[in-house]
Formats: sequence, C-alpha cells, structure tokens
Amino acid sequence: MNAASPTLHVLIRSSEQRLRAAGIESPQLDARLLVAAALNLEPDALRVADDRALTAAERARIETLFARRIEGREPVSRILGRREFWSLEFRISPDVLDPRPDSETLIEAALTLFPDHAAPFRILDLGTGSGCLLLSALHEYPNAAGIGVDANEKALKVAAANASHLGLAARARFVRGDWGRGLAERFDLVLCNPPYIAESERASLAPEVARHDPHGALFAGRDGLDAYRTILPDLARLLAPNGRALFEIGATQAQAVSEIARVAGLAIVEIKRDLAGRDRCVVLAAR
Ligand SMILES: C[S@@+](CC[C@H](N)C(=O)[O-])C[C@H]1O[C@@H](n2cnc3c(N)ncnc32)[C@H](O)[C@@H]1O
Repeated sequence: MNAASPTLHVLIRSSEQRLRAAGIESPQLDARLLVAAALNLEPDALRVADDRALTAAERARIETLFARRIEGREPVSRILGRREFWSLEFRISPDVLDPRPDSETLIEAALTLFPDHAAPFRILDLGTGSGCLLLSALHEYPNAAGIGVDANEKALKVAAANASHLGLAARARFVRGDWGRGLAERFDLVLCNPPYIAESERASLAPEVARHDPHGALFAGRDGLDAYRTILPDLARLLAPNGRALFEIGATQAQAVSEIARVAGLAIVEIKRDLAGRDRCVVLAAR
C-alpha cells in the first residue's frame, strides 16, 4: 500500500465512518453500494478485490458519489438510478417517487384478495410513477393486462421503460391523465398510491425525501387528503363487478380515508397493515 493511495478495504472503512458521522442511517450498506458503483463492481465483488490500491481517477469517482450522499442527501437508490421493489428492479429518475417497501403491502393485499394467479384481470394503477405497482401486479398475474395513469409525462416514460426492461410491455399501457377521469373501462383491481403528505409536514420531512422525491408525488393539500377527495367519488364507475380498489394511506389516515370513501358510496372491505403493523392500505369495493 502506498500512503497516498489507500486500499479499497481501508477506503470502505473510512467511508463508512464518514457516513456514520454525517448521520446517514445505513452507513455500512451505503458505503459498499457507493464504492461498488463508482468502481463498476457488484457489491459482492468488493470483498475479493479489497486489498488493491485505488487510482486517483477511482478515488475521484468515489468522492463524487459520497458528496452526493453526504452533502446532497441523495438516497443511494437515486444515485444508482434503480430500486428493488417486490424483488424486481425498477429504474428511477428525478421524475418519479422512489418506490417504498411499505407500498408492497398493496401487492400482498392483492394476492390475498385474488389468489388465482391465472386470472385474466384488468388492472388500473392511478398515479403510476415508476410503474412499480402495476408492473409488480402484472408480474404476479401473467394473464392480466393493465393501464398506469400519471399526470407527469416524464414519469410515464420511466414506467414504460421499466415495463420493457421487465418484459411486461405487451401487457402494460401508460397514459397521461388526471386520475381516473376520461377512462371508460372497468377494472378488476385498482391500485393507487396517491400523494398523501400534509403541507404542514413539509418542514419535518427527511432531506432525502424533501429534496429528492418529486413534490407532485408527495403533497396533497393542507391535511394530505386532497387526492382521496378527488379520486374516491369517481371510483365506483371504474370497478368491475366484484372488483376491488387498494389505496395506500398514511399510518394515521385510515379513519379519515374510510369516511371519504363512505361518503362517496363505497364499501370499506378492510384495512391492511404494513410489516411494521401500521395501517397502510384501504381495500374498497363498489356497493
Ligand atoms: C406517491 S406517488 C406513487 C408512485 C408509484 N405508484 C409508487 O407507489 O411508487 C404518486 C403519483 O401520483 C401522480 N399524480 C399526482 N397527481 C396526479 C393526478 N392528478 N393524476 C394522475 N397522477 C397524479 C404523481 O405524479 C406520482 O407519480
């Protein structure tokens, strides 16, 4: 080892310490992922290569990524441009929400409600973003087809690219729209993770969220319920007989969203919890 050029092993350890000191939540994992990305290696390959000295160019690439994580507070998924959701890899861009593990609750709920994987479902995903909900559902139901709607044209391009890369493009269509407005079909399964953060919570969000998730994917008015108020009164006409709609909610919103649904004439089938035991998904049906 040469004093001016730390080995990979030393650099990973010192990077972890930098991330920890900066208050980053998962310093060990982030350090490995960023160093691997800078060196064009799979994270698992770091161990075998870990006592080689780094070139100046490699150190500069690593430094650039660490500056984005530490000073820019950019999540690793955004730096890498990809995120795993439902064990599938989704490409993400600044135009789409970084898919959250909590949203997998909707896919789990769909599988419980509709255990026949061979069913030729029609699926609608309102506010599709990266396409993670629609495409995960299509992956589980190989005879299903569906539509992802988003107001953001650039998000739709990301979703369409994900559909191609996952081999699901033939069964997925992406359209620009204002929630369900203008759709004339009926669907067996409606998935929706709308924006649901209250404006009043804006200042308390982690910088990783506030600075890097698109605000059109986060905020929904003074109390965070505006999107439900718009979508739910229009939902019954989009549901096929025996169809179900699965809406993601914030952990404290089950009662308020159920009330909006009730006033909209919908039946509240059940509330599903996420892995942490928090209310996360409202299951709705037409009456
Ligand atoms: C919370 S993100 C969910 C993205 C993705 N479904 C997921 O779960 O990761 C909400 C999405 O709704 C979209 N959106 C916001 N207002 C909309 C509207 N009026 N009509 C359709 N989509 C809208 C946003 O662009 C964003 O992609």
